[in-house]
Amino acid sequence: MAELAPKSPRESEVVMTQMILPSDANPVNAAFGGKVMEWIDICAAVAAQRHCRQVVVTASMDDLHFHSAIKVGWTVTLHSRVIATFRTSMEVGVTVTAENFLTGEKHLTTSALLTFVALSANGEKVPVPPLLLETDEEREAFQEAQQRRAERIARNKKSPSWLRVIKPGAAG
Ligand SMILES: CC(C)(COP(=O)(O)OP(=O)(O)OC[C@H]1O[C@@H](n2cnc3c(N)ncnc32)[C@H](O)[C@@H]1OP(=O)(O)O)[C@@H](O)C(=O)NCCC(=O)NCCS
Repeated sequence: MAELAPKSPRESEVVMTQMILPSDANPVNAAFGGKVMEWIDICAAVAAQRHCRQVVVTASMDDLHFHSAIKVGWTVTLHSRVIATFRTSMEVGVTVTAENFLTGEKHLTTSALLTFVALSANGEKVPVPPLLLETDEEREAFQEAQQRRAERIARNKKSPSWLRVIKPGAAG
């Protein structure tokens, strides 16, 4: 099969803006985490799809951190970028920056790493184009992603004990 042409991470970057509406809020008038996670998943999936020009599915979401609350009425801007590509999977990083529209103050509120797998029209896993790494920062981020992937594969080889303490049907 012909080699896929490498693509720069810049080519798949996504910027997405949302306003926090009352329907997006938790009981303390700040953004509900699940809503922010939905936007993160979409923003990251669009970057992954742009990179590989295939349908993608979310395989995992890692390192999701809510650094600070986002108030109702504020806006958030999500940025996503492909950090690393492997055979059929890609790791995508997402940051969420909140803006207080009254003062213009902006700060990082959430960050996450997601892995997507590319699928053909028949639902088969398909190879993705390699990344054309252009800067030292991009090369460093790629190496860290390789390390995370190696750690995940090693971790997944054994079944974690927490899965065994949750017994479906035991409660409620
Ligand atoms: C993700 C999915 C396609 C992986 O398929 P699989 O047959 O179990 O995977 P394989 O072991 O053949 O691995 C395929 C690739 O996925 C990666 N992968 C698999 N599970 C992963 C996980 N939990 N996290 C990150 N990467 C993962 C593998 O490392 C591999 O990458 P590579 O080809 O770049 O080396 C499959 O588990 C699936 O369809 N899951 C449901 C996805 C979905 O519906 N998401 C929506 C959210 S509900």
